Amino acid sequence: MNIGISIVAEYRGLGIGAMSQRLLAERLHEQGYVRVEASTDIENLAEQRAHASAGFDFEGIARLAQGRADGVHDLQVWSHIPND
Ligand SMILES: CC(C)(COP(=O)(O)OP(=O)(O)OC[C@H]1O[C@@H](n2cnc3c(N)ncnc32)[C@H](O)[C@@H]1OP(=O)(O)O)[C@@H](O)C(=O)NCCC(=O)NCCS
Repeated sequence: MNIGISIVAEYRGLGIGAMSQRLLAERLHEQGYVRVEASTDIENLAEQRAHASAGFDFEGIARLAQGRADGVHDLQVWSHIPND
């Protein structure tokens, strides 16, 4: 299961991103999903720290995996595995 998130601007930086992704990953595990994957732009420090706080592990870089308005970017790949 691959997840993504975007929080309304005025509610960012309050811990919601980390908490909600942790709770979602745990809920998905309860439903039988073993691997919960999330990826983010290599420049998105807020989401990288949110992944780490949520218990995700950094796995590596998916090169040139995302097209954005300003070009094609590398992505960080993270995963949340039960009892990891
Ligand atoms: C990325 C996003 C989901 C993070 O959620 P959030 O609720 O703002 O983040 P949190 O408050 O849970 O903070 C999580 C960690 O990121 C850090 N952080 C938060 N905003 C940050 C910023 N602008 N720059 C660097 N670090 C930041 C926090 O200090 C915290 O780190 P810590 O656990 O080491 O203390 C949210 O900011 C967002 O929706 N951004 C725009 C959309 C987006 O980028 N989505 C992800 C696409 S892959």
